[in-house]
Amino acid sequence: MAIQRTFSIIKPDATERNLTGAVNAVIEKAGLRIVAQKRIHMTRQQAETFYAVHKERPFFGELVDFMVSAPVVVQVLEGDNAIAKYRDVMGATNPANAAEGTIRKLFAKSVGENSVHGSDAPETAALEIAQFFAGNEIVG
Ligand code: CMP
Repeated sequence: MAIQRTFSIIKPDATERNLTGAVNAVIEKAGLRIVAQKRIHMTRQQAETFYAVHKERPFFGELVDFMVSAPVVVQVLEGDNAIAKYRDVMGATNPANAAEGTIRKLFAKSVGENSVHGSDAPETAALEIAQFFAGNEIVG
């Protein structure tokens, strides 16, 4: 397996409930390293750019409103097969379908307020990391 980097967001529903450390504990226990992290309040433009792939979906407006509603924590995670591994650690998008022990099963409130985001492929991981981090902010 190759060492990869993936992009993660701890979403407003989790930061508002003071769950940043609890989510990070699950991430680290799974063997992923947090090699960059910052707490930001996303602008509407940042959220619309980030989720542009979903702009025709009926939930796009609700998704953007949610992502700008409170601070988020953006992260770069590093490890063996990090992209697929983090998707396993997050669990299914809808917490009702998420496996035991996953972040979404443990913490998510609904399909919209689902606590975390993780990149779905190497190309999107690279684009998403570059939207929020300069190269010298990532320290592996
Ligand atoms: P995320 O991995 O951040 O990528 C797109 C997001 O859209 C997804 O997590 C969900 O939070 C959100 N989403 C997907 N389906 C719905 C839905 N039916 N209603 C509201 N939000 C949704």
